[in-house]
Amino acid sequence: MPGCGATYDVGEVRTSCDACGSLLDIVYQWDQVAVPKSLREFEAKWTRRNDPLCRSGVWRFHELLPFATPDKVVTIGEGQTPLMSSDGVASYVGMKPGQLLLEYEGMNPSGSFKDNGMTAAFTHAHTIGAKRAACASTGNTSASLALYCCVSKLMQAVIFIGSGKISYGKLSQALDYGALTIQIAGDFDDAMQRVREVSSRMGIYLVNSVNPFRLEGQKTIMLRVIESLDWEVPDWIVVPGGNLGNSSAFAKAFHELKELGLIDRIPRLAIINAQGADTLYELYEKRGLRWNSGAPNSDVMDTYYAELDAAHLRADTIASAIEINRPVNLFKCIRGLECMDGVVREVTDQQILDAKAQVGASGLGCEPASAASVAGAKLLREEGVIDPGERVVCILTGHQLKDPTATVAYHTSDQKEFDRVLGSRGVSRAAFANRAVQVDNDLDAIVQAIQLNS
Ligand code: F0G
Repeated sequence: MPGCGATYDVGEVRTSCDACGSLLDIVYQWDQVAVPKSLREFEAKWTRRNDPLCRSGVWRFHELLPFATPDKVVTIGEGQTPLMSSDGVASYVGMKPGQLLLEYEGMNPSGSFKDNGMTAAFTHAHTIGAKRAACASTGNTSASLALYCCVSKLMQAVIFIGSGKISYGKLSQALDYGALTIQIAGDFDDAMQRVREVSSRMGIYLVNSVNPFRLEGQKTIMLRVIESLDWEVPDWIVVPGGNLGNSSAFAKAFHELKELGLIDRIPRLAIINAQGADTLYELYEKRGLRWNSGAPNSDVMDTYYAELDAAHLRADTIASAIEINRPVNLFKCIRGLECMDGVVREVTDQQILDAKAQVGASGLGCEPASAASVAGAKLLREEGVIDPGERVVCILTGHQLKDPTATVAYHTSDQKEFDRVLGSRGVSRAAFANRAVQVDNDLDAIVQAIQLNS
């Protein structure tokens, strides 16, 4: 918290401040490190693809996250992610052609943006000699941690997941990569609380986004976005909101770039909650929670959480990645909203799945949570908050194959399956379904089916 001002050495293992209890920030003494004078200086690294620190889309920007020496960096080639223009999705959202861009973080080694943060937290864990690392997860953080442990053989992964709360694509990764997988009878919010207790009692290194080094790695998603735009800053960044690590990291990135004189303006931020897990929306847009230059009205949050508990309300959305009611980075996030003149919106599971189908039809598949960004951009266009001529970047946080159940249920012609997976969540139609054609195992019937459907 501002006003607390306590500082800790980079070699310490902690996620919160002893004095005020808040999460920690990584702060650099920029005058003591070599910072580029222009972002174009990073282009010199593009030709050095045989150097893992230049090839990594995170460590190529090492000068802007200089907390570890190069010999300690653990990289598995994360961050090779494209920024793609999609006119199909632009038209769906209501933007002019060329103005809607998708940052495809599903192309990371474990299939989600988490690898950006994991390489950074893992590097710090390695620096201080950790032998075990833990996280609670809705599936992607755990897949990422499991992968870094598996490839590097430096640590054992201990992952906490809510029983039945994780999609099969993600669970299968953790199991394949050999993580010690603890399934808790509860949801993500329960698992998060437990992993904090367990890691502090057992001295296990915690890699959830309460870990400030995670956010340092996730800053680079924004660096790659502007790198792809020839170092121009877009008008809007639209991102799904779960534990609010990304949004906090993005704001930190832009704040630092501006402070260092490397950009001249900061884009606006839109954070999109799923309606069934809309704590940020409720607190920011409805109850007026604000950072207030460092004096947040936190009683608003306390009251809301007490209400959730009294009503036994749990997060509930098809976008399981963001099925979170108590986002750990809430205060960093509202600080980021202030810095980026941000807005928060919520979208229904129906809107998420329709947007996801549009993203899939554009050739860049994503999982449900990621599509919240596109659904949110559409909503903000309809409201007139986003102008059709502005340049909008939606972050596609996770790969389509992470959650095949949701995708197949959307496209199915089996009404029972549709109702079982989606109907229970208030999804009533699949406007963009591509239904498989059922046909007998008969050559003429197959030929006829193809003719009828082409
Ligand atoms: N999108 C995907 C695909 C995610 O996996 C997550 C978070 C988010 C968005 C939300 O990002 O927390 O930075 O606001 N997944 C975490 C996990 C919680 O455990 O994998 P955030």
